[in-house]
Amino acid sequence: MAREAECIVGWAALSMEKVNLSQKFTLFNDLWSPRIVGELNGQYVKLAKLKGEFLWHHHEAEDEMFLVVEGTLIIQVRDQDDIVLERGEFAIIPRGVEHKPVAAEEVHVLLFESQSTQHTGNVKTERTVEKQDWI
Ligand code: NI
Repeated sequence: MAREAECIVGWAALSMEKVNLSQKFTLFNDLWSPRIVGELNGQYVKLAKLKGEFLWHHHEAEDEMFLVVEGTLIIQVRDQDDIVLERGEFAIIPRGVEHKPVAAEEVHVLLFESQSTQHTGNVKTERTVEKQDWI
């Protein structure tokens, strides 16, 4: 019983390490290639650097959250006004909604999405990063 309790405390202590976003963003420079920085309830917290235009795609069964940490991100959505996200702002793109992220200048974003979510959604191209690394 005591050992079990220690294990639980140990695991909790590990998972409660704080994450510094600025520091994490220094660890990679490639664009459109999300890194995983946290995991909870079947969801991943990811960081990505974006610049230029991504591709139109949707996610069949998953909602996707974009939070801008630095810069400006435009999310184009079919038949709707663009969503313009500044630093400190987020939007949730519901499942099934076709969207295309665009960034004139490099933007740093935090993504919150289920572990099964592929960043290119229903589209597989040479830009699809199948396996995303933890940092
Ligand atoms: Ni998406």
